[in-house]
Amino acid sequence: MNTRSQFVIIFIIAFLLFINSSYTSQDVNIFKRIIPQLFKVKKAGEHKMILEVKWDGTGIKDNEKVTTKLHGCTPSGTLSFRRDIKKHKFSDHETTYELAVHDKGVPVQCLLEFTGDLQTNVTFGFQT
Ligand SMILES: *[C@@H]1O[C@H](CO)[C@@H](O)[C@H](O)[C@H]1NC(C)=O
Repeated sequence: MNTRSQFVIIFIIAFLLFINSSYTSQDVNIFKRIIPQLFKVKKAGEHKMILEVKWDGTGIKDNEKVTTKLHGCTPSGTLSFRRDIKKHKFSDHETTYELAVHDKGVPVQCLLEFTGDLQTNVTFGFQT
């Protein structure tokens, strides 16, 4: 075998490996999924509650970013909170939001979004 045909064979093998690995990474993306866990709301004072948001997932590396955004609750005016986007690593498995309660004993419905490539919306309800 001369050097030229050796070169061609190496090129073909490299190309096949490349195709193979691009298929594999596609499979990993399909498999990647964030799974919201049971949220908890705790009383933390006369007019204060702490919302605990927890997550698990499949195919996500520990150091990957998980970003959550609490959009709001209805009826509006019952609660308020800082409209922060919370940035975490997947391995943190939880984040918290501090809620200021303006009306007590009211059933509310809230929307929380996991943003980025792990996009998932969660609606949940509780009583203030
Ligand atoms: C999640 O909710 C946000 C805010 O309402 C919206 O912009 C986004 O499109 C929703 N995503 C999905 C997948 O429903």
